Amino acid sequence: MDRVRIGLFGAGLIGREHARFITAHPRAELAAIADIGPAAAGFASELGVPFYSDYRALLAEARLDAVIVALPNALHLAAGQAVIGAGLPLFMEKPVADTITAAQALVAAGTAADIPIQVGHHRRHAPDIQRARATIAEGQLGRILAVNGMWMAKKPRDYFDVAWRREAGGGPMLINLIHDIDLLRYLCGDIESVQAMSANSARGFAVEDTVVVLMRFASGALGTFTLSDAVPSPYGWDTAACQALYLAHQPGDCFFIGGEKATLSVPSMDLWRHEGDGDWRHPLTRTHLAHDHASCYVRQLDNFLAVVRGEAKPLVDGADGMMALATVAAIEEAARTGARVAPAQMLARG
Ligand SMILES: NC(=O)c1ccc[n+]([C@@H]2O[C@H](COP(=O)([O-])OP(=O)(O)OC[C@H]3O[C@@H](n4cnc5c(N)ncnc54)[C@H](O)[C@@H]3O)[C@@H](O)[C@H]2O)c1
Repeated sequence: MDRVRIGLFGAGLIGREHARFITAHPRAELAAIADIGPAAAGFASELGVPFYSDYRALLAEARLDAVIVALPNALHLAAGQAVIGAGLPLFMEKPVADTITAAQALVAAGTAADIPIQVGHHRRHAPDIQRARATIAEGQLGRILAVNGMWMAKKPRDYFDVAWRREAGGGPMLINLIHDIDLLRYLCGDIESVQAMSANSARGFAVEDTVVVLMRFASGALGTFTLSDAVPSPYGWDTAACQALYLAHQPGDCFFIGGEKATLSVPSMDLWRHEGDGDWRHPLTRTHLAHDHASCYVRQLDNFLAVVRGEAKPLVDGADGMMALATVAAIEEAARTGARVAPAQMLARG
């Protein structure tokens, strides 16, 4: 396989970014685009790429090695099943599906057909995140005890002109928090149960704008997370890691991961500990772990190309996508009911 020929379903906000990353990649080729919108047809013609208004026709006619699905969430299951049915490796944008039942069906279809599914939680591919994971795994922090995270940013007013973004399910829990949950799982392991509160007081839409979460990790560590899409701030991974495609950049921190021996601030990558492995009576020392801002989106595509060539496994697979979805579903349920909820309960309920 010289260049991996990729079909793209959906050329909206993120689909166009995928198209640009594919066309810029020396080992990938954008074989065709499917979308129902006239603007996407124009975009395909600008790129000189065949365009289909029906993704099933694209699957039947184009010569493909793999497919990237960047369609609205409710279409993920049907489109993913069609790709798996065609025997092609699948890259599915996050969330892996719109419901846990749909996610379970998609993951089961991939497993039954032995087709790899990669999910678009791009942040894991950032070199600094991989360094943070290795630092934790090497035991430099000791046993993780306390985790604190934030994602606060102010979305533009016209973002909410699109009706589904004002309705329950269209908010920052499923759009933004799910990325943080995936990262927390990647860095600190599974989240065993959550408690949460949410509010919509900033805009008064049915959808939440602000959420606070308490987490118990399977390891026994405790964590908190604060999310708001109505607050101007540098405290969110996209902004702080300087990796975002459409947010302003401002280097800073959004995760503080505290262990018995040290605390790691991410993504500034500062490791704080007391001299001589001492305690609060001893000076704190800061060890700065090197920054590497290589694009997580390019590295995500590198991973997918290697998956298609059979040289690697997805860094974020369908099961990871499903666990992130189940954890966010548990947070939604906890905020709605006031109960403590386990992601495992959500998976069992389907
Ligand atoms: N990983 C990330 O950073 C990231 C960022 C944004 C969105 N996303 C995810 O990507 C997906 C798409 O989000 P978006 O913001 O690009 O949405 P969008 O609405 O901008 O784009 C979706 C595209 O799908 C097309 N479409 C709709 N129905 C179709 C159909 N039946 N057949 C073919 N095309 C159809 C639309 O015309 C549109 O061009 C969502 O699942 C979202 O959660 C991921």
